[in-house]
Amino acid sequence: MGEREHLDETRAYYDEFAPRYEARRDGHDPGGYHDMLDDLEVGFVERFGKGLDVLEVGCGTGLLLRRIQAFARSAKGVDLSPGMLERARARGLSVVEGSATSLPFPDASFDVSCSFKVLAHVREIRTALSEMARVVRPSGYVLAEFYNPVSFRGLAKRLGPRGAISDRTDESAVYTRFDLPWRVRSLVPRGTRLVASRGVRIVTPFAGALRVPLVGAALRRAEHLVCDSPLRYLGGFWIAALQKDG
Ligand SMILES: C[S@@+](CC[C@H](N)C(=O)[O-])C[C@H]1O[C@@H](n2cnc3c(N)ncnc32)[C@H](O)[C@@H]1O
Repeated sequence: MGEREHLDETRAYYDEFAPRYEARRDGHDPGGYHDMLDDLEVGFVERFGKGLDVLEVGCGTGLLLRRIQAFARSAKGVDLSPGMLERARARGLSVVEGSATSLPFPDASFDVSCSFKVLAHVREIRTALSEMARVVRPSGYVLAEFYNPVSFRGLAKRLGPRGAISDRTDESAVYTRFDLPWRVRSLVPRGTRLVASRGVRIVTPFAGALRVPLVGAALRRAEHLVCDSPLRYLGGFWIAALQKDG
């Protein structure tokens, strides 16, 4: 499959997913699995992007971007899927259509570019990371999240059933890659270096565990306690912070 077909396939998948994307998000499962992921991701962005210009690559419906907007000087989003963007626009967010592999922004436009639950669907991962580095200013940051095979989530995705995204399609319809954290070093674009990382969903064995009284609260607390510890390399999601040379 060529690059254009790959992007068309991903776009079609997310256009189809868009009406259901927030079924368990945005207050539909308060304090649940997705809220926990979002809290840990947004918290990491705040560490690097407070009061600065932030781009979210693959912003989807804008669930993270609207929270980033609350602490950034400016917050912009870009996404491949018009269906997902429709909801971000309805939230009044500043978003444009485009691909991570060819970002529609001039060089050095932002202080931070970040991406969550997106790069796992990008075949040309080196190009996407180079683009994210290109659009940040010298000494700025790229926050790039990968799916980690060495994790409870990685195991569940390998062995468990595929989640449905509509009445007729499941997760197998989209390209998904898993990258070992220690292999990500080989993907770091020239002119940037890995300066920090965070693990997300390290100790939660399965998403439903967060709904069990007391156990859920304990797991949520534990995730926040260990996200930046040496256990971070076992997160189902692993976020690399890359700093661009000054
Ligand atoms: C799982 S959603 C995540 C959305 C948002 N980041 C969040 O955390 O809620 C993945 C998003 O990545 C977008 N996406 C996938 N491949 C992309 C690409 N090559 N360029 C831009 N966006 C892409 C999809 O359209 C979709 O909106």
